[in-house]
Amino acid sequence: MVAFAQPALAETSGAGSALSEAFARTAPLYERIRRVVPPADWAFFAEDAEAILRLKRERNAVILAHNYQTPEIFHCVADIVGDSLALAREAMRVDADVIVLAGVYFMAETAKLLNPGKTVLIPDAGAGCSLADSITAEDVRLMRQAHPGLPVIAYVNTSAAVKAEVDVCCTSGNAARIVKSFGVPKVIMLPDQYLAKNVAAETGIEIISWAGQCEVHERFTAEDVRELRAANPGVTVLVHPECPPEVVAEADFAGSTAAMADYVGQKRPPRVVLLTECSMSDNVAVHYPDIDFVRPCNLCPHMKKITLSNIRKALEGNLHEVTIEASVAERARASVERMLAL
Ligand code: 13P
Ligand code: SF4
Repeated sequence: MVAFAQPALAETSGAGSALSEAFARTAPLYERIRRVVPPADWAFFAEDAEAILRLKRERNAVILAHNYQTPEIFHCVADIVGDSLALAREAMRVDADVIVLAGVYFMAETAKLLNPGKTVLIPDAGAGCSLADSITAEDVRLMRQAHPGLPVIAYVNTSAAVKAEVDVCCTSGNAARIVKSFGVPKVIMLPDQYLAKNVAAETGIEIISWAGQCEVHERFTAEDVRELRAANPGVTVLVHPECPPEVVAEADFAGSTAAMADYVGQKRPPRVVLLTECSMSDNVAVHYPDIDFVRPCNLCPHMKKITLSNIRKALEGNLHEVTIEASVAERARASVERMLAL
């Protein structure tokens, strides 16, 4: 997790279009991302970025942004950035009246669970997740009945209603630790079948899962990795554990989005590919001009629903406030808090 200080913006005056004046005033912000965002794009972002910085001050708001958010959000208006685990942890410590979650709906719900008294906004309430959409609370109840006595762990990429039915949550950053914490040979971990297989291989614990998968990571193949290595000699391949196990087996390292960023920062591979969502490479590449970031990547259509424009509108109009029914919230919060305590 990284917390950013917001820079003072330049004062300008004189002729020119509103767009180019905003561009000039926000030059210090643009400087942060000029390696990965063309100036023509920033010309359209500048006014919204400026307005968002003002609105945050006026409304005592903070923006929590996931590692898959675009660089102009991640590096220019976010206060706190990180993986799902860091965003959940930091949501507990936030000292603000309003939290804007630049990420997908389950992340905003988690922030609300941990901040019942604060206003939590998501700029587009339709920013879902194929994993969260793959399972319902009723599905979890039926699984419990089918496997009585087994601990039930929900990936945070689930609805609050699903979290309310389980014993504890996990993220990709702590899944192995949470699975091992029960000290039993068999657990249920929902809903990502690939994460479950990868964690089972890592821990030696049998995991019963669900037929969910991430629509972004399921598309990477072992053949992709072999072709990348052939085309880019010496490349270090980092993958997310939502990838199929045969992809993880071909990689140099598998870890959460934060773990991938840390790996790059610590090991400084001269050439690297992050087999994950596209903005991740842009956001990490900003810090390491000396590293050659090889693409491909896959876009998450849900993460990409969040833009500077709808962040601004959410703050201006207090739009898309996240609410969770009290009886669900209480039990779901307990599952998230148990994870954070472990
Ligand atoms: P992380 O918890 O690793 O950031 O992953 C979240 C996610 O949605 C990955 O697809
Ligand atoms: Fe969900 Fe996959 Fe998008 Fe992450 S990348 S939010 S798991 S669909």
